Amino acid sequence: MGFRTTGEAMGRRVTVGALALALCACVDKADLPRPMVQADPVAGLAVIEEVGCAACHKIPGVAWPEGRSGSNLAGFGARPLIAGRLPNQPDVLIRWLIDAPSMDPGTAMPPMPLTQDQARDVAAYLYTLDED
Ligand code: HEC
Repeated sequence: MGFRTTGEAMGRRVTVGALALALCACVDKADLPRPMVQADPVAGLAVIEEVGCAACHKIPGVAWPEGRSGSNLAGFGARPLIAGRLPNQPDVLIRWLIDAPSMDPGTAMPPMPLTQDQARDVAAYLYTLDED
C-alpha cells in the first residue's frame, strides 16, 4: 500500500509514457483519418490564426508569413507521431497544444493559451492536413 502514495506527479508521467508506448505499437495508417466528433475544423482554423501558431509553423490554409522555428504541419494528419515521439491521437494532441512542456519538458513548443474546446477544434483542423 505504501508505494502507492509515493507521488502522484511521478505516476502521471509514467502513465503518459506507458500510453505512448502502447499506442505506438498499434498506430498505423489504417487508423487514419481520425474522426473527431463535436469538433469544428473551421473554428479551429480561426483559432490558429488568432493565437499565431503560424509564427512558428508552416500551416497549409493559414495566411501568415510562414514560420520556420517549428515544423511544417502539412501532412500532419497522416503522421503516426506528434513531434516524433507521442502517439498522434486526438486526446494526446489536445493536451500537447495546450501544454506541450507538460508532456516533454525539453520541447521548444510553448504552452498555448487555448481552452479545451479551442484545442479540440484546432486538432480537428490539423487532422484535415493529410497531404504533404
Ligand atoms: C514559439 C513557437 C511555436 C508556437 C507559437 C507554436 N508552436 Fe507548435 N511547435 C513548435 C516547435 C519548436 C515544435 C517542435 C517540438 C518538438 O519537437 O519538441 C512544435 C511542435 C508542434 C506540433 C507537432 C509537430 C510534428 O511535426 O509532429 C504540432 C502539431 C504543433 N506544434 C502545433 C501547434 C499549433 C496548432 C500551435 C498554435 C496553437 C503551435 N504549434 C504554436 C513551436 C511553436
